[in-house]
Amino acid sequence: MDSPFDVLGVERDADPEAIERAYRERVKDAHPDHGGSAREFQRVRRAYEAIVSGDEEALVAAEEDARDDGRTSDTATRARARNRTPSDDGADADDGPSVEGSRVEFLNYEVLDDHGWELTDDDLFEKAAGADLDTEDYGRLLVKPGENLLEAAENRGFVWPYACRGGACSNCAVALVEGEMPTPAGNILTDEWLDRDIRLSCISSPVSDEAKVVYNVKHLPGLDDLRLRPSRFDARMQD
Ligand code: FES
Repeated sequence: MDSPFDVLGVERDADPEAIERAYRERVKDAHPDHGGSAREFQRVRRAYEAIVSGDEEALVAAEEDARDDGRTSDTATRARARNRTPSDDGADADDGPSVEGSRVEFLNYEVLDDHGWELTDDDLFEKAAGADLDTEDYGRLLVKPGENLLEAAENRGFVWPYACRGGACSNCAVALVEGEMPTPAGNILTDEWLDRDIRLSCISSPVSDEAKVVYNVKHLPGLDDLRLRPSRFDARMQD
């Protein structure tokens, strides 16, 4: 049985720097954008979170998860490891108690073409809500204080694109359809993109109680030129 330490390929007594290094290396390979899969990405992420937390229960849950190939069990294990119920993740928390943070409704840009929708459609989210889309493509998530949008998506179990995680590419770009989400200065986006309500999810957090975003817009004409290609990313990670 793989332990979380096996998943990251580190010894049980590895120091924090070695664990962080191993995680960065493993999560890079495991990400779907770099030849991995959503399942492997989540497995590596949960192993890392369990080790860093040092919580015995989380470690046991991550071990169970590492040997489990079932999606249903996977969801339950993930929830156990975080000591909360799936509804706490905010994806379907309309009926739950109000919690601190920003509630974000999201839609995957990749499904727009399939349905003949445009990013500029006024009723885009209404149409998405009635289209019976997969939970990865349309839903809600909670961005907690201290989380940026990309972290929030990952912490709630979603896999969204990214590369540098530092504002230097457009891989993590989202289109802000409603709400407020300022992007810190000094990133790669020009004023023109910011005026078009494009934001970088890896460095931006919504500041309004509610927001709507279309994620995965990295292939928008023009924005695509700012993407960090895998080869450049890999070369940078090896620096
Ligand atoms: S991943 Fe490169 S700017 Fe967000």
